[in-house]
Amino acid sequence: MEVIETRIDKESREYKENYEHMKTLVEDLNRELEIARKDRAPRAMARLREQNKLTVWERLDHLLDKNTPFLEIAPLAAKGMYDGKVHSAGMVCGIGRVKGKEVVIHANDPTIKGGTIYPMGVKKTLRTQTIAMENRLPIIYLVDSGGAFLPLQSEIFPDVDDGGRIFYNQAVISKMGIPQICAVMGLCTAGAAYIPAMSDEVVHVKGTGAIFLGGPPLVLAATGEEVTAEELGGVDVHCRHSGVSDYYAQDDVHCIEIIRDIVKNLPPIEKYDPGIRESAPPLYDPEEIYGIVPKSIQTPYDVREVIARLVDRSEFHEFKPLYGPTLVCGWAYIHGYPVGILGNNGVLFSESSLKATQFIQICDRRGIPLVFLQNISGYMVGKEYEKGGITKDGHKMVNAVATAIVPKFTVIIGASFGAGNYGMCGRAYSPRFLWMWPNAKIGVMGGEQAADVMVTIKNNQLKREGKPPLDPETIKRIKEPIIEAAEREGNAYYSTANLWDDGILDPAKTRDALGLAISASMNAPIRRDRLGYGIFRM
Ligand code: COA
Repeated sequence: MEVIETRIDKESREYKENYEHMKTLVEDLNRELEIARKDRAPRAMARLREQNKLTVWERLDHLLDKNTPFLEIAPLAAKGMYDGKVHSAGMVCGIGRVKGKEVVIHANDPTIKGGTIYPMGVKKTLRTQTIAMENRLPIIYLVDSGGAFLPLQSEIFPDVDDGGRIFYNQAVISKMGIPQICAVMGLCTAGAAYIPAMSDEVVHVKGTGAIFLGGPPLVLAATGEEVTAEELGGVDVHCRHSGVSDYYAQDDVHCIEIIRDIVKNLPPIEKYDPGIRESAPPLYDPEEIYGIVPKSIQTPYDVREVIARLVDRSEFHEFKPLYGPTLVCGWAYIHGYPVGILGNNGVLFSESSLKATQFIQICDRRGIPLVFLQNISGYMVGKEYEKGGITKDGHKMVNAVATAIVPKFTVIIGASFGAGNYGMCGRAYSPRFLWMWPNAKIGVMGGEQAADVMVTIKNNQLKREGKPPLDPETIKRIKEPIIEAAEREGNAYYSTANLWDDGILDPAKTRDALGLAISASMNAPIRRDRLGYGIFRM
């Protein structure tokens, strides 16, 4: 395989300015992650210690194998929502290693409003379960939750993708043969009671763990009966009488030891091997990506410079390098896993779409995972391109992306606009994981273009009515809120708060995140019987 030769001048002013800009964005990101991890009300922390419970992160430290990575899912979910304090949507979720096996972990954080479930918490739980289903990973639930966050109950309860779906998924996951193990480390109230109930094995902590459909406050309100949580659904009730729980744990640490033993005894998983070889670092430092990515997403740059800092030995076998040059396609290895990479190098034309379609088909047939590096303002527009069939060629690419059977991974490294988001495997195209870089922007189109479109529509309307066009003051009044909304709702933090992605990544850590995610995806077999596509419009 050929090595990508860098053309970057690290001494140039442009490189240094880009570097400083991205470094600041990464520092901001790390600060936000730190807040999400640590900012807790002193009263909630005191209550936790009083109950002799571990924090959610201490629980994870005990659960995960020592010195192994944890790929956290959506750590900034719900950022800026509600009272601004429902960090990570009130739960820590991710993929980690327990007794050498890759598992998905879903852990409520009892120090955020009693671990109650907010609308974004439901969404994050469903996303975590989807990851477990798609990648066939066992799930460990560490439950410690007051159930639905009652003031927002209408947003959590009735619809198809609301709370009920969590337990529906548990039934489906069970039928798929994916193990689900539950630790009852606090309250499992109302809906949350179904998490242990629908799991294969339940470990229950003495004194703090309790399971009931109606908690003591509800029982008091409904019947006037005063009862403690322990009497209503404590460890003795469920391990000795009801049979809802299977194992009696003395405390949090003991509970986690039992969970680890259960995982140890799960049958081994035969992982799919796409032709793994020994991992080797890139020739160039991944942190150099900071200096490569321009400050403005409008400024073009060569995506090969990014690829050179993501892949093993910076080796890249480029496909059709002279055809459809606005999309770079080719094969490489990431942490030893073979991948087919598609990276934008400009607007998508008919040629680049056709190239993508052929490339995806080849990777799909060979069982090679696909990595999309998305930096796309859209498909080319205009008379000439419509005549040339850009819509039908874009369709072929979208069709192939949607129905490819190999695992897909998307990193939005810059712009993500319009149908370009679809063709480059946006969230709706079911990549196994999708991340944003902190500089990324997402939307139907950029704010400036959207505002111009609205002004043109208005002027056309006025012309039809025989009236003069808009004056500059009115144009400004129309444009400003549209640009402002696109700015506010199109940035990486808004995206990640809404769970449109699985998290914002430091560009320098992207290679490692991809490696972990690809490794996790190998737990699921590739369904050769599902290989094939719908009709490609010719
Ligand atoms: N909805 C909204 N807020 C809730 C809540 C719920 N279901 N359950 C707890 N909270 C809030 C409390 O108001 C409190 O908020 P504050 O810190 O702003 O005062 C915070 O969560 C912590 O609750 P607190 O009772 O002080 O802490 P705790 O650790 O002693 O107990 C629970 C936590 C969850 C065990 C307990 O609050 C409880 O039993 N809640 C009700 C559970 C229930 O019946 N849920 C039914 C939902 S379907």
